[in-house]
Amino acid sequence: MEFSTISNNIVEQDLDTIILSVFESDDSLKGLVLDVDVALNGSISAILSRGDHKGKLREVTVIYTSGQIPTHRIILVGLGPEKDFNVDCIRHASAAAAVRARQLGACNVASIIHGIEQSTISAKDAVRAATEGTMLALYAFNKYKSENELGQIESVSFMKSEGIKSEDLVEGIEQGNIISNSVHLARDLVNEPPNICTPAFLAEQARQIGANSNTDVSILTEPEIEDLNMGAFLSVGRGSTRKPRFIVIEYNKKLLDKVQPLVLVGKAITFDTGGYSLKSASGMSTMKCDMAGGAAVIGALQAAGQLKVPYPVIGLIPATENMVSGTASHPSDVVSASNGTTIEIVNTDAEGRLILADALVYAAKYNPKHVIDLATLTGSATVALGEGSAAALFANKTSLAEQLLTASESSGERIWRMPLYPEYTDWMRSSDVADLRNSTDKRNTGIGTSAAFLQEFTEGYSWAHIDIAPMAFLPSNGVIKRLGPAGATGFGVRLLSHLMLEDS
Ligand code: BES
Ligand code: MN
Ligand code: ZN
Repeated sequence: MEFSTISNNIVEQDLDTIILSVFESDDSLKGLVLDVDVALNGSISAILSRGDHKGKLREVTVIYTSGQIPTHRIILVGLGPEKDFNVDCIRHASAAAAVRARQLGACNVASIIHGIEQSTISAKDAVRAATEGTMLALYAFNKYKSENELGQIESVSFMKSEGIKSEDLVEGIEQGNIISNSVHLARDLVNEPPNICTPAFLAEQARQIGANSNTDVSILTEPEIEDLNMGAFLSVGRGSTRKPRFIVIEYNKKLLDKVQPLVLVGKAITFDTGGYSLKSASGMSTMKCDMAGGAAVIGALQAAGQLKVPYPVIGLIPATENMVSGTASHPSDVVSASNGTTIEIVNTDAEGRLILADALVYAAKYNPKHVIDLATLTGSATVALGEGSAAALFANKTSLAEQLLTASESSGERIWRMPLYPEYTDWMRSSDVADLRNSTDKRNTGIGTSAAFLQEFTEGYSWAHIDIAPMAFLPSNGVIKRLGPAGATGFGVRLLSHLMLEDS
């Protein structure tokens, strides 16, 4: 799909589809929408005044032009109430229109830049969001389908109204493309089945983004991980024949002695059976998504290189599989993390924190400006916030939390800050045999205690933990308003990309 801009008179364009938009209960048409309405002898205003299109966000109506203008079809999309309009409404309106255009077999599409004349959103931000919404909505994972029934939109041109600079549009389109392709990389990795997407496979995929300039990838195998004394990480993979990998991606490495890096850590359990604390069949059914944090970090590192972020960014991905076998961990085992902290494995299904512990210790070597970890860590994050609603944010510095919340607004990826109360730490330090326990026996302390456990391994740096379990892998239904089909969302890539853009 190619994105471009056009400034010619929209009414004279010969395309197969023009996408227009209106606010909810707004019957005074303006700008380009008014131009088309006039050319169509008031067809659009008639639809609106009869209430056949209400302008609700993502509402779509198709209008045929019957030869009154060269383009034969208009897709009219709602933007919701004008007072609630923001950059994410542009994503969702673009997404809804793109999905309908594809259904109709559209090939060459032109679109207005939604709401830009009525809001203070910059042209660059608006067109970036429109590009993201369009691309993300049209994503499909069909590599294992013998037949592919979906059509392909070939081109989307954004119509440039007066006073908008071409350079802004070109830059917005480029950034939107980079971010969306990086989300798609993460989605592909998460959707890939667990018999293919092993720790070694993930490492190979990460190596490929190293083909970008300024990006180095090193992959540590079991003997090297042993040398680092990562006993917590290694314990999780002991039940699997698929050996673990510790993936290190370094972008702008040559600046490391001058500039403190942003370090991103991603949980990559390529399949989580729960181990001997075995999950139920239904609980296990989506557990190929348990490497979504790692996939998001790989996606974010690809985006960092392509967006040419001016400072160093490091990705650390402990990748392993949580299986049962004669060599798997028992509940009651005691393991030792690379900083010497001993951990009683009370529950083998609380494995994510074990692999993150060693990665967070490793992160300190970089003297990081900030460390942000992403993990499908707990079912209780979903209980707390709701499936498809928001990811849970924990941070030991309010300034980092605020930066992330700002990026959440601009990226449309929702996060909600949770507390780190000292008693969560007390729970995790209450083992009879070791320094820490990896779980409590109280289910309803699940989310805060998981973050408190991680905090034990974040010596001396600014740190945020994002539990993406509520967002990483979602069914498609009418309540969850998502950009793209059921399955992997690539959550985190947009959030981190916007963070890196805003921080530059
Ligand atoms: N990977 C799961 C968490 C999860 C659940 C992610 C649902 C995505 C969707 C994690 O390893 C896990 O099993 N967590 C346990 C922790 C408990 C044993 C302390 C949980 O949340 O039940
Ligand atoms: Mn688990
Ligand atoms: Zn897990």
